[in-house]
Amino acid sequence: MAGPIRVVGSLNMDLVVQVPHHPGPGETVLGSDYATYPGGKGANQAVAAARAGAQVEMWGAVGSDEFGRLLQENLEHNGVDTRHLRQLEGPSGLALITVDPGGQNRIVVSPGANGRYLPEHLPPFTPAALLLLQLEIPLPTVQAAAEQASAQGIPILLNPAPIVPLPGSLLRRVRYLVLNETEAAALAQSPVETPEQAQKIAQELQKHGIPAVILTLGGAGLVWADGEESGHWPAHPVEVVDTTAAGDGFCGALAACLAAGGSLREALRFANAAAALVVTRAGAQPSLPQRSEIEAFLASAVETA
Ligand code: RIB
Repeated sequence: MAGPIRVVGSLNMDLVVQVPHHPGPGETVLGSDYATYPGGKGANQAVAAARAGAQVEMWGAVGSDEFGRLLQENLEHNGVDTRHLRQLEGPSGLALITVDPGGQNRIVVSPGANGRYLPEHLPPFTPAALLLLQLEIPLPTVQAAAEQASAQGIPILLNPAPIVPLPGSLLRRVRYLVLNETEAAALAQSPVETPEQAQKIAQELQKHGIPAVILTLGGAGLVWADGEESGHWPAHPVEVVDTTAAGDGFCGALAACLAAGGSLREALRFANAAAALVVTRAGAQPSLPQRSEIEAFLASAVETA
């Protein structure tokens, strides 16, 4: 695979509050002081891949506000190429996040500029090692990017988050589908409560013509199915502080390893370790590990897969 990893997706500023428990309907909960972290699934995956050693470019949009400037600067600071990032009039994407003592989060996203990033804003496609897509920008933009990538033979990794009904024409273009249990249950319209159920769904989803399906299961690890093999990989036992961006850290590290010529098995092992590190730290992008940290973690980990 030649060229950079291209991420076409969202950038958000995350406003995060630690809470004793997530509020129920009509309930007010007093939480911690708020923290502000750069986030957004697209930008998180771009930074994760860059920290994992890949050359990365980010296509998407920020708003004309102060958050937009900070989000762009932060990507540049992480070595991500932002030449094709657009600035669109109005607010940037914003995410309101609460995190409970178990590290579980609730996220509300105000799309801002991400929601105004349309197919006509996409630059002409040039060669790339891999295209990384999520669903925090309009679906027609995702579809247009996927069309252009497949016309050029660029493999596509789709992380369908947040999940919406997906057209078969998009799924058929995907080389790697990476989704969590909630997204898989919505897509397959079937519960995913055990690794065995997840395995079955991964195999079912493959019937849409997707060569590799990977389901991330939080503390239960991951399952995957590709044409030749399928399996279950347990999660590393770690102390969970904040699960925000665990999936993004996984996708970015997976993409970096695949783009460097790694096999799917090698990439899954690397990404599983990256996700384990992410959940031990607070915030979205501050929690994403460097390649050296992932390698050191793997060198000392007890692996059972
Ligand atoms: O996946 C985590 C991300 O989801 C957060 O950074 C937030 O911005 C939302 O996009």
